[in-house]
Amino acid sequence: MSGRRRSVVRAAATSSKSRPAAGSSRSVASGTGKSNAKPGGKAGEPKAKTPSAGGPRTSRPNDHFGAKAKKEGYPARSVYKLEEIDRRVRLLRPGMRVLDLGAFPGSWTMYAAKKVAPQGRVLGIDIQENRDGVAPNAEMRQADIFTVEPTTLGRFDVVLTDMAPSTIGSRAADQYNSYLLFMAAVKIAEVTLAPGGSFVGKIFQGGEFEDARRSLRELFETVRIIKPEASRQESYEVFLVGLGRKASA
Ligand SMILES: C[S@@+](CC[C@H](N)C(=O)[O-])C[C@H]1O[C@@H](n2cnc3c(N)ncnc32)[C@H](O)[C@@H]1O
Repeated sequence: MSGRRRSVVRAAATSSKSRPAAGSSRSVASGTGKSNAKPGGKAGEPKAKTPSAGGPRTSRPNDHFGAKAKKEGYPARSVYKLEEIDRRVRLLRPGMRVLDLGAFPGSWTMYAAKKVAPQGRVLGIDIQENRDGVAPNAEMRQADIFTVEPTTLGRFDVVLTDMAPSTIGSRAADQYNSYLLFMAAVKIAEVTLAPGGSFVGKIFQGGEFEDARRSLRELFETVRIIKPEASRQESYEVFLVGLGRKASA
């Protein structure tokens, strides 16, 4: 293990014990979460310097996507990231089975459920409980993806992960924790994805990014990097998309 990797792991371990703490999109949306207080700002976003301190302008005068989500009945603006990815790679079709990891509060699950209806099904998993029904053809299950047994989940055509750790203000530790969540999702996809299936996963760009991309290349025919328009410019999150799960991998 390199010196850099060791110090990042230590930073992550000090802050979150054995695994990255769950990021709460509820507090991202409301800004009122206690356990998810983010010294570095929203998940994946560096702390902004004020313009007077010479930093970039990071204010968001028009949160177009936030307003749109509210109008269209989605609980989070992140739905438009999935919508753009879906449009660009033709991900979701009627009849598909979809696994959505880090599904709370339910925007991605709701969107996917509409796209695969009426026969298709979506299973959403999150460490946070979702008591509200999201869609008639979707089930929301509370579980930690680090302890879930993939063989109990079923078989899927698409695996999605929008999981994010609670950021702790150390960019390197946040990136590493995001990488751990991403890799846990890849492991689940390896077991549950049908041949030809697809994967979409969020990751904070950092030192482990190439490792993450390499592991997708082993599993999929095609790998793409997508930074959707709805992903804030100042955020260092990107989405790695794997298309055509290899039958032999
Ligand atoms: C950005 S939110 C997802 C938003 C969701 N895609 C939507 O559109 O409504 C990230 C989610 O990852 C979940 N998460 C983080 N760590 C997790 C873990 N270990 N197991 C399951 N979920 C986790 C958080 O609880 C949080 O709800």
